[in-house]
Amino acid sequence: MVDYIGIERVQELVTRMGPAQFIEGLAAEIERDYRRWNEFEKSPRHAIHSDVGVIELMPTSDGRLYSFKYVNGHPKNTAAGLLTVTAFGVLADVDTGYPLLLSELTFTTALRTAAMSALAARWMAKRSSRAMALIGNGAQSEFQAIAFHRMLGIRELRLFDTDPAATTKLERNLAALGLAGLRVMRCGSAAEAVRGADIVTTATADKRNAVILTPQMIEPGMHLNAVGGDCPGKTELHADILRRPDARVVVEYEPQSRVEGEIQQLDATFGVTEFTHVLTGKARIRSSDLDVTIFDSVGFALEDFSSLRYLHRLHQEQRGPKHQLDIVPDLDDPKNLFGALAGNIAAVLPSSRPSLAGAHA
Ligand SMILES: NC(=O)c1ccc[n+]([C@@H]2O[C@H](COP(=O)([O-])OP(=O)(O)OC[C@H]3O[C@@H](n4cnc5c(N)ncnc54)[C@H](O)[C@@H]3O)[C@@H](O)[C@H]2O)c1
Repeated sequence: MVDYIGIERVQELVTRMGPAQFIEGLAAEIERDYRRWNEFEKSPRHAIHSDVGVIELMPTSDGRLYSFKYVNGHPKNTAAGLLTVTAFGVLADVDTGYPLLLSELTFTTALRTAAMSALAARWMAKRSSRAMALIGNGAQSEFQAIAFHRMLGIRELRLFDTDPAATTKLERNLAALGLAGLRVMRCGSAAEAVRGADIVTTATADKRNAVILTPQMIEPGMHLNAVGGDCPGKTELHADILRRPDARVVVEYEPQSRVEGEIQQLDATFGVTEFTHVLTGKARIRSSDLDVTIFDSVGFALEDFSSLRYLHRLHQEQRGPKHQLDIVPDLDDPKNLFGALAGNIAAVLPSSRPSLAGAHA
């Protein structure tokens, strides 16, 4: 039997722990895994594009556990009352190849993306960062707000979305959360939101090379957390921001980010640093409070691997219904796979065996 974590179970696990603590715990798991980067088998995700979206498979393994995530990105979906991003995933045992867990990953992708963003910002942003612009107030936005409040000490959030209803929804949810000491301001434009911010998070969805941030908006010392540009032809930053002489660009896994990240706009020789090297001290990203740092986030399979393992552990440790799925047959004789199937066929459809005479009639 394979463990199953559905929507209700994730809601229960996150509610019991509290979203901020859940995200912080997940960030610690992700950090541990990025520190042992060389143990992972890595590849850019496999993406199948259409005119309106993308469907991707994201596998990885550390030699003991294997995971993959199925995830889509369809910016037009919200107009039809559907999510832009949905996901599910599997954790498996490398030794036997047997799946251990099938889990929802739609909530979990939002939680892990926020955890990864805040983790990167901890290593890249100015320590004194207190104000963050949050541009794109859709499904990901509350998760980003919670993560940066908890892990970076953000106390001022400056919101902007081209859809005023999205900002109203975010304001309402943040008010209900009552995050300690948080001041929330609604802004009339991206430029207004960005002005004076220490950190700028962009989480917009548009299937094109959008220009959410222009070079004029960027101030010395800012940290940019660019979340929404995550597939070919879908970016958020003007390329000249990346080219600033004082800017340092960090990516998750370079071969994937070259295709999907903001850096797809630049030559393949443009210098970037993989996040693992920031964590392990091989690369120094910020030399002063005046440097501009950019986390060119696209989402990497390792983060989903960490998430599935984290969820599985919480699921096993905590009380509540432990659903399982019978998606792998359990056999007395593993060589008699047909016997297990044929026994059922005989029991249910005894008349389905045509006589030889009938077959030739
Ligand atoms: N990097 C990662 O790991 C990662 C993970 C998950 C999602 N994403 C990406 O993050 C983005 C946001 O995802 P979501 O689930 O919140 O999508 P969503 O559709 O729920 O929200 C996107 C919001 O962006 C707004 N928007 C679009 N164009 C804008 C503009 N020019 N200025 C301001 N706001 C604008 C929309 O009105 C909408 O409210 C998507 O592009 C998604 O693909 C990235």
